[in-house]
Amino acid sequence: MKVLVVGNGGREHTLAWKLANDSAKPEIFCTPGNAGTAELGTNLAFGAGDVDGIKGWCIANQPDLVVIGPEAPLCAGLTDLLEAEGIRVFGPSGAAAELEGSKQFAKEIMKAAGVPTSAYETFTDPEAACEYVRERGAPIVIKADGLAAGKGVTVAETVDQAEAAIRDALEGNAFGDAGSRVVIEDFLIGEEASILALIDGENVVMLASSQDHKRIFEKDEGPNTGGMGAYSPASIVTESVLKKVKEEIYDRTLAELKKRGIVYKGVLYAGLMIDDGQPSVVEFNCRFGDPETQAVLARWDGDMLPAINAVIDGSLSEGLIRWKPEHSVCVVMVAGGYPGNYEKGNVIENLDEANAVADTVVFHAGTALDGDKVVTAGGRVLGITSLGKDLPDALSKAYIAVETISFKDAFYRNDIAHRELRRLENG
Ligand code: GLY
Repeated sequence: MKVLVVGNGGREHTLAWKLANDSAKPEIFCTPGNAGTAELGTNLAFGAGDVDGIKGWCIANQPDLVVIGPEAPLCAGLTDLLEAEGIRVFGPSGAAAELEGSKQFAKEIMKAAGVPTSAYETFTDPEAACEYVRERGAPIVIKADGLAAGKGVTVAETVDQAEAAIRDALEGNAFGDAGSRVVIEDFLIGEEASILALIDGENVVMLASSQDHKRIFEKDEGPNTGGMGAYSPASIVTESVLKKVKEEIYDRTLAELKKRGIVYKGVLYAGLMIDDGQPSVVEFNCRFGDPETQAVLARWDGDMLPAINAVIDGSLSEGLIRWKPEHSVCVVMVAGGYPGNYEKGNVIENLDEANAVADTVVFHAGTALDGDKVVTAGGRVLGITSLGKDLPDALSKAYIAVETISFKDAFYRNDIAHRELRRLENG
């Protein structure tokens, strides 16, 4: 059985690792992959956005399954292109992926469906947008409508910052076409958490909860990143919150999509803000989260392929998914300077030693092979992921492994899971 994983981040290494360990023992291909996926199978040369190249390879090589990791090929309709060639694909159609591809579309669906989320307005005219933020006040959130590689969101603390973000997007072309329209949303208060759910067009099965740490510096300071670490489960997501997430968020969203002739199949990530037990949607993503995937899949007990096949075949049920009772933590190591400019090509030392730490896997993100050495090849370099009998145990293993690894200017946060630790301390 041949499985192709599309993408080259930590999420894709984790998906490839989980699938490679499946009892069906599939042959793994990854495109373009990284130094971690190269150890699990064959890396191909097509970039994740090269939909024609990937389609050509699939026609010639007939994989039994293609799992698409990142949003860009999903929003570009790679699922539709491959399905038209008779290839089995895990990932939503281009129309369904618009939930991430257009913030305006996602808000319109949520508003029509009565999904809890912040109030918003959409603008293409900078003057009208600035007038709106002056009326509304700060803090306020400015989002580029389209895909902006994780850089299109500004949480403005002041009206001046909001106006600058509006002008950057609408006048300065900071995000190209993706920013030619902005969605301006009220700032939500509360605590963030992430839910990933598998959806087979009809049935929704939510995966274990997690919490991401988006800011670069400890105490959640500094610029936003793709995520500096995650842990699972996140106790802020109580049974009662989960019930609301299912009924008020997933069920309502899917029903509204269906009314518009859109069937959602794949994973739908709901970025949540939880305030006093009430979840609201901060954003939808049409893919697995990164680094949430590392933390969540580390706890998936047994095979994942049956659930993926059930998503594609429309036969998904809760019974296909079991969770290990252990807690997990993923600590992301980045290249110094990230999320701004950073060096590439620095040799990463002691990966084997870190992988030898008990209950720990080092997932690669921005890594590449240079001869027989593993070198940095991106800003997000590694996601060190550990399981433990409780959160402190998982954290202790993860940080032992992190401290074992070295590369020039390596940077990581020392306070992953700090909110959960505080909750534990406070009983
Ligand atoms: N961890 C945030 C994301 O995957 O978008």
